[in-house]
Amino acid sequence: MKPIARPRNPCFSSGPCAKRPGWSPDALTQALVGRSHRSKAGRARIKEVMDRSRALLGVPDDYRIGIVPASDTGAMEMAMWSLLGLLGVDVLAWESFGQGWATDITKQLRLSDVRVMTAEYGSLPELNQVDWKRDVVFTWNGTTSGVRVPGADWIAEDRRGLAICDATSAVFAMNVPVDKLDVVTYSWQKVLGGEGQHGVLILSPRAVERLTTYQPPWPLPKIFRLTKGGALIDGIFQADTINTPSMLCVEDALDGLVWAESIGGLPELVRRSEANLAAVASWVGRTDWVDFLAADPGNRSCTSICLKIVDPWFTALAVEERAQAAKKVASLLEAEGVAFDIASYREAPPGLRLWGGATVERTDLEALFPWLDWAYGEVKGQQ
Ligand SMILES: Cc1ncc(COP(=O)(O)O)c(C=O)c1O
Repeated sequence: MKPIARPRNPCFSSGPCAKRPGWSPDALTQALVGRSHRSKAGRARIKEVMDRSRALLGVPDDYRIGIVPASDTGAMEMAMWSLLGLLGVDVLAWESFGQGWATDITKQLRLSDVRVMTAEYGSLPELNQVDWKRDVVFTWNGTTSGVRVPGADWIAEDRRGLAICDATSAVFAMNVPVDKLDVVTYSWQKVLGGEGQHGVLILSPRAVERLTTYQPPWPLPKIFRLTKGGALIDGIFQADTINTPSMLCVEDALDGLVWAESIGGLPELVRRSEANLAAVASWVGRTDWVDFLAADPGNRSCTSICLKIVDPWFTALAVEERAQAAKKVASLLEAEGVAFDIASYREAPPGLRLWGGATVERTDLEALFPWLDWAYGEVKGQQ
């Protein structure tokens, strides 16, 4: 039987993610549109985003925060192209985004001393194999497999290399110890439900030291350049963005940050997201057709919650039929208006992915579970 109760908000996409509860375009009425981002007022807004982000995430005072072009990808590319090449590199890749960084390092930057440490979807590479005498590039949370690193114990305090971390689907929902990392990147459209296209780049003093003492042998386009004449371009970290940001997106990012503060800051954001994961785990526990893609409960993401279908009817299908069946489940729910964008990522094993970040209400996920059961039954019954 088709369920009756519906999620109030059907947005469970893993990016752009659900706007915060209660968001409406009214949140943007004070946006500094039509004004220069370099005006006093424009710079003040940008600075406010940086300052509130610093406070919320507990970024140490001696770390820099900059807003950079091209979203998280832009921030990561900037970091990799500016910092890598001095030391050997260990790259951890256990899903699509980590694999993307590994491809850049090996095929575009063409560094020779690279160890790509991989794992299948659902697992993590051996973190204790990482050599901290080298630079290490990794994602905190693998958005397309729903596997996150279990904490920061494996990161050496006395490392020689830099810890370069793509944390876009982790920050604001997980305790990411920025003080134990050298580069942290993210974009606004994830956990706080902001808008796309702007990247945030956080640099440790050691990363800044690398930038000012090492010049990579390849050319860097303006959009990647963090130094001039061997010195850090300080302005980037003081609201003088490299190029023009959207003041509408800046306003929206501020709205997300203010909301986060109003509910209790990072501890409450993490609590909300973990509660979402717990709700999904409870449903998975009582549902025989579905299981987590992440094999180890200790590595399970509380944001991009990836599920595999384990029903013998489904697993007996050919790979393409499996992908089609999972997509049908997602399409049925989209047509019903109860869940948008929940098919697994195109390169991940066929299944479902539910975003459980802090803007998602647990009650909306709980309202969705009967619909998932219904849609799966419909698709299976049609065969
Ligand atoms: C782990 C990870 N890295 C990078 C990206 C790309 O982010 P953006 O679109 O902000 O560049 C994503 C997007 O989902 C992601 O999840």
